[in-house]
Amino acid sequence: MQIIRKKSEMKDLRGIWAREGRVVGFVPTMGALHKGHITLVERSVAECDRTVVSIFVNPLQFGPKEDFGKYPRREKADCEMCEKAGADVVFIPTVEEMYPRGSGTVVEPHPALVSGMCGAKRPGHFRGVLTVVAKLFNIVQPNVAYFGQKDYQQCCVIEQMVLDLDFPVKLVFVPTVREPDGLAMSSRNEYLSKEERKKSVCLYKALKEAERMIVNEKEKEVSKIVERMKEIVQEAGGRIDYIEIVEPKSLRKVESIEESVVIGIAVFIGSTRLIDNIIVCPNRGEIFCDAL
Ligand code: PAJ
Repeated sequence: MQIIRKKSEMKDLRGIWAREGRVVGFVPTMGALHKGHITLVERSVAECDRTVVSIFVNPLQFGPKEDFGKYPRREKADCEMCEKAGADVVFIPTVEEMYPRGSGTVVEPHPALVSGMCGAKRPGHFRGVLTVVAKLFNIVQPNVAYFGQKDYQQCCVIEQMVLDLDFPVKLVFVPTVREPDGLAMSSRNEYLSKEERKKSVCLYKALKEAERMIVNEKEKEVSKIVERMKEIVQEAGGRIDYIEIVEPKSLRKVESIEESVVIGIAVFIGSTRLIDNIIVCPNRGEIFCDAL
């Protein structure tokens, strides 16, 4: 496995692969890799001739009061995990390499897709995500790129960008990988104390309770479901950032549940902000992004 730090080197290698007719899979990450990330890498290795993983903590997608400075960085362990999963290249540029003149031209997400959830709570976040993903797509030029359902809204804005700007990339969305108690794996789980780690299961508990109400009790009224979810989070000592129930493609809020919906939740456990979501079909129960 090769470690590449320069854009020019990455592009050169991509050129060689193009001449060889290789199908290239790409998994963009911010590092501090866990089983969730590695599941994406394994998918790419299984489906493509070559797999590139990028590790870049992108300053553009962090707000001024967010955790850019303390975001976990551990290149060596990350590279070992990528190698074990069968990746061919880990691309690790510096901030200077990615933004030599600071940030200038940016990619704006479709406004309708960022009016709620993390888009509303983290202004500019998805602009930062799309700008770096667009740059990485141009550098790596993947045939296929892999993203996790864990960041559902991110999947939607990237899908829209690929459509609107004609990126020749096929997107694959992979279901959320969870800890045995249901907590969605995340690099930010490392911030949690032992006590907070116990509380953090309330996100998944609230989501599953919502599913139970929709599927078993045939509850349609979003306000009632959200109320019950709030209770579960507050009883556990979490502070709600948002709970939203939206239509899976447009991300428009729904008031009455008639078809499949995405239930998104963001909660502060202490000072750590965690997000999660599930997709629920009223007749079938939880379904995953690959079934949409
Ligand atoms: P990061 O949070 O490192 O996540 C990288 C990829 O792994 C994303 O597609 C994310 O959805 C996926 N992922 C994270 N946790 C997961 C889990 N538990 N199960 C399945 N997939 C999971 O998302 C980003 O980085 C950045 O915004 C990035 C796209 C790299 C742009 O900077």
